[in-house]
Amino acid sequence: SLSAGPSSGIRPSGIGKVCVIGAGTMGAGIAAQVANAGVPVLLLDVVRDPAKPNAVAQAALDRLLKAEPAAFMSKRAARLVEVGNIESDLTKVADCDWVIEAIVERLDLKHALYEKLEAVRRPGSAISSNTSTIPLGQLVEGRSEAFARDFLITHFFNPPRYMRLIEVVAGPQSNPALVEAVADFADRALGKTVVRAKDTPGFLANRVGTFWIQQAINAAIDLGLSVEEADAVVGKPMGVPKTGVFGLMDLVGIDLMPHLKASLTATLPADDPYRAIAIEQPLITRMIADGLIGRKGKGGFYRLNREAGKRKE
Ligand code: NAI
Repeated sequence: SLSAGPSSGIRPSGIGKVCVIGAGTMGAGIAAQVANAGVPVLLLDVVRDPAKPNAVAQAALDRLLKAEPAAFMSKRAARLVEVGNIESDLTKVADCDWVIEAIVERLDLKHALYEKLEAVRRPGSAISSNTSTIPLGQLVEGRSEAFARDFLITHFFNPPRYMRLIEVVAGPQSNPALVEAVADFADRALGKTVVRAKDTPGFLANRVGTFWIQQAINAAIDLGLSVEEADAVVGKPMGVPKTGVFGLMDLVGIDLMPHLKASLTATLPADDPYRAIAIEQPLITRMIADGLIGRKGKGGFYRLNREAGKRKE
C-alpha cells in the first residue's frame, strides 16, 4: 500500500493526485510517468498567449503523444492529464497529494512560486522541487514551518521515461513520514530506484556528472577531437548513457549549464575541488547566444532536434 502512515497529511489511500508545475523537458516527462502509473495529474505552466492560456502545457502534452519512436504515454494515460496555467489554476493544487515543482532552475522564480503555493496548497500534502543544484535550505527560506515540513527535493533524471534513478533529499524539517510516502510512490508506482542524498551542492549525480562533462569539453578542445570522437572516448567506456557526454548535454539542454554552474559555485565552499570543474565555457555561452541549446532548440553539439531525432543540415 502507498499508505503514508498517520502522521503525514497524504490521504490514507496514498498519492491519489499529483500536480506538476513546469511543463518543460522534465515536468512534462514526469507528468507522463505519473499518468502512465494510472494516477491523475494536473500539469501547469505559464501563460504566454492570453488567448490560449493553457497552450504551453498543452503543447508539451501533444509532443509527448507524438514522440518517436514511441509515444511517451498512451492516449488513455493522456486523459489523466489535465493541463492548465499558474494564473488561473493554482488553487487546484489543494486537491493534490503531491506537488512537483519543475520550473526553470532559478531560485528567485522558485521562491515566487512557493510563496503563491503556500497560500493555496493543502497543508500536509507533499511539495517537492526537481532542482538539479539548489540546496533545500535555500528553497524553503522565507517559508513557514508547515511548508518546510512538507517540503523535499525529488530530483528526477533526464529523460524521466528511461532514467530509473531519483535522488530524494530531505531537509532537517522535512516530515519523515511524508518523505517516506513520496519515496514509496516513486519506487512502487513509478518504478524508480530511490537514492537518498544529503543536501549538498549538486547532490550526488550532478556533482560527479559535471566532472566528466567538463573533462569531455576540455579533452575535445585540447586534443582537437570532434564531438563524436570525444563522446566515443568519454561516453560509453565511462558508463555514460549511449548518448555520450555531448549528446547528453544536448538532451539536458545547453541552457541549463550556466544555471548549474551558478548554483554550484554559489553553494560550494571556496576550497571545494568541484568548484574549479563546474562547467563554464565560452563555447557554451556562444552556443546559447546562437540558440544552439540542444534537442529542444535547433540542435546543440549534434544537429539533432527533438522532432524525432531528425538531423537538420
Ligand atoms: P525547461 O526550461 O525545459 O522547462 C521549464 C518550464 O517551466 C518551461 O516550460 C517554462 O515555461 C516553465 N516555467 C518557468 N517559470 C514558471 C513558473 N513561474 N511557473 C510555471 N512554469 C514556469 O527546464 P527543465 O530542463 O525541464 O528543468 C526544470 C527543472 O528540473 C530545473 O529545476 C532543472 O534544474 C531540473 N532538472 C533538469 C534536468 C534536465 O536534464 N533538463 C534534469 C534534472 C533536473
